[in-house]
Amino acid sequence: MKSSLVFGLFLVVICWIHPVISKDALLETVTKHGQLSVNGIHLVDKDGEKVQLKGMGLFWSIWMPYFYNKTTVDGIKNLCHSNVVRPMIAVDTQSGGYLTDPDAENALVDAVIEAAIADDIYVLIDWQDFEAENHLDASIEFFDRLSKKYGSYPNIIYETYNEPITKDWSAVIKPYHEAVIAAIRANDPDNVIILGTPNYSTGLDLAVADPITNQSNIMYSLHFYAGTQQEPFREIARGAIKKGLPVFVTEYGTVNADASPPVNKEEMDLWYDLLEEYGLSYVNFAISDKDEGASALIPGTTPEHVCEEEYLTESGKIAVEHNKA
Ligand SMILES: *[C@@H]1O[C@H](CO)[C@@H](O)[C@H](O)[C@H]1NC(C)=O
Ligand SMILES: *[C@@H]1O[C@H](CO)[C@@H](O)[C@H](O)[C@H]1NC(C)=O
Ligand SMILES: *[C@@H]1O[C@H](CO)[C@@H](O)[C@H](O)[C@H]1NC(C)=O
Repeated sequence: MKSSLVFGLFLVVICWIHPVISKDALLETVTKHGQLSVNGIHLVDKDGEKVQLKGMGLFWSIWMPYFYNKTTVDGIKNLCHSNVVRPMIAVDTQSGGYLTDPDAENALVDAVIEAAIADDIYVLIDWQDFEAENHLDASIEFFDRLSKKYGSYPNIIYETYNEPITKDWSAVIKPYHEAVIAAIRANDPDNVIILGTPNYSTGLDLAVADPITNQSNIMYSLHFYAGTQQEPFREIARGAIKKGLPVFVTEYGTVNADASPPVNKEEMDLWYDLLEEYGLSYVNFAISDKDEGASALIPGTTPEHVCEEEYLTESGKIAVEHNKA
């Protein structure tokens, strides 16, 4: 009893001396951290040390394919101080996507993956779907190809389902994830797989009530927009993390959930406090030059100017400041 108490105090002191210290993500490369895995609630590197990924998400592949190339990824890494980029592969929209033109989407995702590998950063591959349970065959085909082609690179992270609309975790979302995980694991035994959670990836409480227990290197995604999801959602996230759920913020915005302004600085600071408290990884939405609040770039920005100071919006500047800190 006494020795375990002493040991407990020892751990508290160690954790206090070594919190997850946020660093400039630009310097935290794949060469430095290598193969990632999940230990308890933490993302850890090849040496078992906690690691935090911070970076930028691309806009929907079908609407901004011009940002799906190495020139953009270079800017995201070097000037937006990122060690992760998130291609957002459209699946089923009025303007098309993987279901109507898989070859076009495969070419776009491959270009970003190869740029990320060349630039020594991680790449989070997002299946940008809201009803992925209705497109399971296409999703398996997509992730099977990618995990065969790139599964041996430590750069790769899979995100199987952007934002489930449904709240039915156990009967609908979880079985979908299990089927996609099985397809990926047949080719890639170890890269991290991140799972979308109910209610647009805000319902971590529903996932932690019935987590996947027979797999390793699995995390759960949390999305938030500071103008829309506030303290009640932080409470849900904290509660799930305290129960042991490993969480990765694959998408966040400084504005409202519909991407409209204004930037909510005060709520964003409260969210950043939570992210740093638990050392969570996070990816900002988005590298986009659309005239809307969530865009990190001003209208008309081309790949050559991605993340240059004078092309960043108010939202973009906040994201970069935190990637750097
Ligand atoms: C990326 O796209 C831009 C705009 O189309 C182009 O100017 C640039 O050369 C491309 N970069 C590469 C590496 O292909
Ligand atoms: C789902 O999220 C919305 C806001 O994004 C919130 O208003 C609603 O209460 C949430 N529903 C549940 C069941 O948590
Ligand atoms: C994990 O459990 C699920 C649900 O019971 C099952 O479908 C799946 O095959 C299991 N996977 C492994 C690797 O055991």
